[in-house]
Amino acid sequence: MSLDFIPAAKPIIGDEERAAVDAVLASGMLAQGKQVAEFETEFSSVLVDGRAAVAVNSGTSGLHLGLLAAGVGPGDEVIVPSFTFAATGNAVALTGATPVFADIELDHYTLDTDHVASLITEKTKGIMPVHLYGHPFDVEGLGKLAAERGIDLYEDAAQAHGASFNDKLVGSFGTFAMFSLYPTKNMTSGEGGMVTTSDAAVEHKLRLLRNQGMEKQYENEIVGFNARMTDLHAAIGRVQLTKVLGWTAQRRQNAAFLDANLENVGTPAVKAGAGHVYHQYTIRVSEDRDGLAKALRDEYNIGTGVYYPVPNHRLPSFNRTEDLPNTETAAKEVLSLPVHPSLSQDDLERIVAAVNAVAKAGA
Ligand SMILES: Cc1ncc(COP(=O)(O)O)c(C=O)c1O
Repeated sequence: MSLDFIPAAKPIIGDEERAAVDAVLASGMLAQGKQVAEFETEFSSVLVDGRAAVAVNSGTSGLHLGLLAAGVGPGDEVIVPSFTFAATGNAVALTGATPVFADIELDHYTLDTDHVASLITEKTKGIMPVHLYGHPFDVEGLGKLAAERGIDLYEDAAQAHGASFNDKLVGSFGTFAMFSLYPTKNMTSGEGGMVTTSDAAVEHKLRLLRNQGMEKQYENEIVGFNARMTDLHAAIGRVQLTKVLGWTAQRRQNAAFLDANLENVGTPAVKAGAGHVYHQYTIRVSEDRDGLAKALRDEYNIGTGVYYPVPNHRLPSFNRTEDLPNTETAAKEVLSLPVHPSLSQDDLERIVAAVNAVAKAGA
């Protein structure tokens, strides 16, 4: 009998999400309204210690509008990782500023603070690190560096709902932070993003930018976008918000099982003080990562992911020539195994047995 496929990621959508969407459809009020306002208030209290939250139509819009609201524009440089999803650097470029790509450290795949320090120039407006895979970036080191050099810190928290450092939640370290609500993220609204900030001026600017420059109808204060979230999406997000902390606990439990049982591969390191939320459970495979992924798929019916195979600075869209050795190593060696909350104990045991068998055979 063939084994069921174990996908690398699996959004969990149930009856409550369906009922919430139905209720909005029945109300006839579909665009940004009461559901979005409630979602913002609830997100703020559950995930960012009461910081203001502004909902938008995608995580990418959230980064773009956050940077604009923080005053980033032509002539500025913003230091970003190359080892991330392209949206991080894209958002900087869309403001007219220049993304400057820095290397990562290989323990946690997050920005290398010393390398970032070496790239700061008089044009540097800020640093936008990523809490990659759900592990917080070096919030102490980068926070201190930004404060000493008089530049801003912006958080790409797309993958890090509920992650923390020294018991402080991510989303409370930067001028603004952005959480993606794309379907494969730790919680979803279908598509969407949430931008959080404790700066009232940035919050006001965000609210204007997402809605044609107006908070009051037809009183447009600035030129803006239509980056509004719909009430349909917010209704899904509100239900997911009631579940995300439980799902995170399950992700952590799944990760602990994988940590304890995987052999011959590098399991994810967690920094002292870091609260990892395991958006991805990413191993390092120094010999033939792609062969391991193929064997898991073809022989064991287990899905995996490579996040990210091409460093962003080398994508045709940026086409830069910087030498970022750790970024290159990570792009060749990382492999993310399923860790999502709907895995059963049998699934986890199948994943461990398969990885151990292939990694041993390949060793
Ligand atoms: C690190 C990172 N930044 C930004 C984004 C963009 O978010 P979205 O897909 O919601 O636009 C993502 C999501 O894929 C991401 O993983």
